[in-house]
Amino acid sequence: MTAGIRTESLTKQFANGVTALRDVSITIAPGEFVALIGRSGSGKSTLMNIMGGLDTPTAGSAYFDGEKIDYKDRKRLIVLRRTQVGFVFQQFNLLPTLTARENVAYPLLFNYTPRMERDVLAMRLLTLVGLEKRADHLPHQLSGGEQQRVAIARALVSNPHLILADEPTGNLDSKSSAEIYQLMRHINQVQKITFLVVTHERELASYCDRTIELRDGTVVA
Ligand SMILES: Nc1ncnc2c1ncn2[C@@H]1O[C@H](COP(=O)(O)OP(=O)(O)O)[C@@H](O)[C@H]1O
Ligand SMILES: [Mg+2]
Repeated sequence: MTAGIRTESLTKQFANGVTALRDVSITIAPGEFVALIGRSGSGKSTLMNIMGGLDTPTAGSAYFDGEKIDYKDRKRLIVLRRTQVGFVFQQFNLLPTLTARENVAYPLLFNYTPRMERDVLAMRLLTLVGLEKRADHLPHQLSGGEQQRVAIARALVSNPHLILADEPTGNLDSKSSAEIYQLMRHINQVQKITFLVVTHERELASYCDRTIELRDGTVVA
């Protein structure tokens, strides 16, 4: 499955008066792999959070698969977050007391998926990211790159149409970073999932189809 996303004059002003996004209009085609770049504070995370239904805009609109996101409909936002979008964060955000396999299967607990099915799917995804031999390891028994691969497998478990990755390699050395990018690109090409990836590293942007740059909350390129 794959998703196209579009924003129209998206603006976000926080309660403290900071305008994090100003008139952001972008289009990402189904199946694209797009890098989102820009200095710290330019609004990248704010844009990702709004697209993934974790935050709401002050003005403007966003469309997911052609459907306008109604940010007042909380139930709809929960469905968006649970079934249509997968998130990958810089800090991995794995649950420390769960094994790699349990972490990957975790989101399925909320979809009432039977245990057997959860296990099979989690193992399939751990195999996809090359970690089938680490399935029973806890996060602290894994390297940073391995933890991020578990997080990517977890992001895929609900069959999302879009993966939003916010500085996924920010805590990794350059070799692991390149491996994570290659893995995401592979998933993008094989499963046709759309990717929007925040990165600081311009060289990693070379793995992408296209780059969108934010400066002070506005799209510059
Ligand atoms: N919850 C918040 N409340 C107030 N200001 C915020 C909040 N989140 C982010 N900001 C501000 O909005 C701007 C954009 O932040 P952010 O989207 O995190 O940028 P980036 O991810 O590009 O570093 C920054 O000036 C930041 O301080
Ligand atoms: Mg950020």
